[in-house]
Amino acid sequence: MSVDVAVLVGSLRKESFTRKLANAMIELAKPALRLEIIEIGRLPFYNQDEDEGQPPAGWTDFRQAVRAMDAVLFVTPEYNRSVPAVLKNAIDVGSRPYGASVWDGKPAAVVSASPGAMGGFGANHHLRQSLVFLNMPTLQQPEAYIGHVAALLDASGGIANEGTRNFLTTFLLKFGSWIEANRPHGA
Ligand code: FNR
Repeated sequence: MSVDVAVLVGSLRKESFTRKLANAMIELAKPALRLEIIEIGRLPFYNQDEDEGQPPAGWTDFRQAVRAMDAVLFVTPEYNRSVPAVLKNAIDVGSRPYGASVWDGKPAAVVSASPGAMGGFGANHHLRQSLVFLNMPTLQQPEAYIGHVAALLDASGGIANEGTRNFLTTFLLKFGSWIEANRPHGA
């Protein structure tokens, strides 16, 4: 039985390092995990008024897509020591209407990345604050703060550095075990 993991990428930039990293992880995860990016760039900003009437199709499609998955992997850059707004918006959209959050109980993991040295530590932990509230059992170890990310990617979309490749492979193996251990009962 395949383990299906939604991947949410916190950057919309065409040449995004974060997206390249997410794509490399999709390959590294095979065949144990099937990772699939769910796009969040065209989700309208969350507005509770609209949710109480006829919610935009973009929101309902997104909620359905996440609901169908076994787990969620967040791969995000850091904006001003926090999570980019596009990712926070997706989290907010998925969390409502009240009582029908698509996140509730879904196992999760967080990878942050930056061309800088600190690997998006601030974004990683701001995101974790939301995941606690959303009741997502989130992989604690290993933590993944990918610093100097630009230098780690090769021209063909792979991870150039063997140490990082091995680290991400281990991370994904642990995440697979974490998903198995934290599957909601009956799933
Ligand atoms: C950044 N960047 C950044 N980097 C970092 O390590 N910590 C930070 O707090 C910020 N803040 C920040 C704010 C905004 C608005 C932008 C546009 C950028 C730099 C950021 O890491 C860099 O642009 C990355 O390349 C963004 O990730 P992608 O788009 O390459 O995936």
